[in-house]
Amino acid sequence: MPHGNATDEREPQRPPLVLRGAGVSCRVQSWSFQPHTAQLVLYHQQRLPTRADLAQWTQRLRELGYTKVRTTALATTAALRAESAGFHVVQELVLLEHTSPRRTRASSAGRAPTQRLLPAQHAAASAIDRAAFAGEWALATRAIGDVCAATPHHRARGAGTPLAAYAISGRDAKQGFLQRLAVAPQLQRRGLGRALVLDSLQWLARWRVQRVLVNTPTDNEPALALYEQLGFQRMTERLRVYEQALA
Ligand SMILES: CC(C)(COP(=O)(O)OP(=O)(O)OC[C@H]1O[C@@H](n2cnc3c(N)ncnc32)[C@H](O)[C@@H]1OP(=O)(O)O)[C@@H](O)C(=O)NCCC(=O)NCCS
Repeated sequence: MPHGNATDEREPQRPPLVLRGAGVSCRVQSWSFQPHTAQLVLYHQQRLPTRADLAQWTQRLRELGYTKVRTTALATTAALRAESAGFHVVQELVLLEHTSPRRTRASSAGRAPTQRLLPAQHAAASAIDRAAFAGEWALATRAIGDVCAATPHHRARGAGTPLAAYAISGRDAKQGFLQRLAVAPQLQRRGLGRALVLDSLQWLARWRVQRVLVNTPTDNEPALALYEQLGFQRMTERLRVYEQALA
């Protein structure tokens, strides 16, 4: 992906905004390092905005000075709605599931140690994210906090001293999610990613979660290999991120 108009973290962020439609609302925040790109975060993909809602929301965002609007990763039904409202796909993701986290081997022998990722380390985690994702999909410091807050419960872990890798996992009552994982490029292929995914699976297993989901771009071979090596299986459903220019 191109780097886009990435800016540094000193650029002032807009306050969060909620857009309301016919029986559905969504949260808007500016995309990490791109203050003029609005990210639409639907609260529920079960209840979708109408095309009229989307048209009204994009108009409001235009008035607020945004030049682009981008969705979160959408499943099929929501994706079709976005397409019908003039959005186009910018990223396609494979969805993978793990259905037996409790069978993950508990032994940590030979595994890189992990430790709690403190909020004070979110800036360091963002720097790793930026290097690992190398472009416009990287998370700014405040977005790392948003990922932690996205599920009712989360676990944020780091590896290495100084910090070389981090992962954020989440869970609700029934499901677990591997939300984010990044390893500093110069320290990849040394087992840090594997250690963080195993830590996540074991945490979820302790909470009796039986299904863990993760997604990654279709062309992310290293991540796909890592997840499949650890027992995740590809699902047939794809997720898609959509975008629309507002100029
Ligand atoms: C994907 C990523 C987290 C892997 O972390 P890592 O610490 O390098 O991975 P590990 O050393 O633990 O590797 C574990 C296994 O993953 C697979 N793997 C990791 N990197 C790979 C690569 N470049 N090519 C092929 N397989 C790879 C291998 O199966 C490997 O096992 P092996 O070394 O015994 O062959 C890392 O490459 C990264 O941060 N990438 C950019 C961000 C990203 O893609 N995040 C996750 C997806 S959204």
